[in-house]
Amino acid sequence: MTIKTAVIGHPINHSKSPIIHNHWIRQHGLDATYEALDISCENLEQGVRKLVEEGYSGFNVTLPHKIAIMDFCDEIDETATVIGAVNTVTIKDGKLYGTNTDAFGFIQNIKQNAPEFEFKGGKAVIIGAGGAARAILYALLHEDVPGVTVTNRTPAKAQALAVHSPYNIKILRWNEREDAIRDANLIINTTSLGMSGQDPLDIDPSYAPASALVTDIVYTPLITDFLARAQKREMPVVTGIGMLLHQARPGFELWHGILPDVTPALEESVL
Ligand code: ATR
Repeated sequence: MTIKTAVIGHPINHSKSPIIHNHWIRQHGLDATYEALDISCENLEQGVRKLVEEGYSGFNVTLPHKIAIMDFCDEIDETATVIGAVNTVTIKDGKLYGTNTDAFGFIQNIKQNAPEFEFKGGKAVIIGAGGAARAILYALLHEDVPGVTVTNRTPAKAQALAVHSPYNIKILRWNEREDAIRDANLIINTTSLGMSGQDPLDIDPSYAPASALVTDIVYTPLITDFLARAQKREMPVVTGIGMLLHQARPGFELWHGILPDVTPALEESVL
């Protein structure tokens, strides 16, 4: 029987998930489908019920439903509970099981593209305090990063992030963002700054040690202005596309029993 899967969101036409999942479905010769379904906030409950009735095996969840979907899950695992959002749902015997794979995606992207990098080697600095920052903070703490500093334009959001964490998170003001990276081992832009059509992230990576790994969750363009500045200084960089590709792997494994690989061919078809 054909295994039916999907991504739900609103809007949905920008989603890269169908390209990723259909690439793997073809690669592994599976009898399976993966569609992009536009479901508005008002229709979320009804839309999800329809997926269950139609025998879907699972679905990804993107904006704006990552938090609202939690109300309709029968079980939510620890990762998604701590991150406070669900991006992957498995349907089994009519029940919905929610998880969040963003932290996995973030870590695996770095492990694949900067295999020498040591998370335990020093402090990490998270720039921004939105949903992505929350998943990345969770990921870093699981890798035993010895310290995390968060800097965000709106300090209250950085504080809210820190409150949810049992660890000691240092918060620096947005006007101190270049100070924040002075002794960083890892710097992560989780804001939308640097995305095509937006202002660049106004932080000079040369304030950080030359050995610091610089990474961005923005992947349009692939080399953001921030990453380009780091590259110019010969700092190691990891682009954001890999987080998107790697976060898709656990869902595919849950639905098809195969943990797929991220290859240059996949990256090329998504870009
Ligand atoms: P996501 O879920 O993708 O992380 P989000 O929750 O909207 O998205 O968070 C976006 C992040 O980008 C926030 O940290 C936001 O800062 P605020 O908390 O102050 O809003 C940051 N951001 C967006 N535009 C920004 C700008 N022009 N200057 C500084 N930070 C910006």
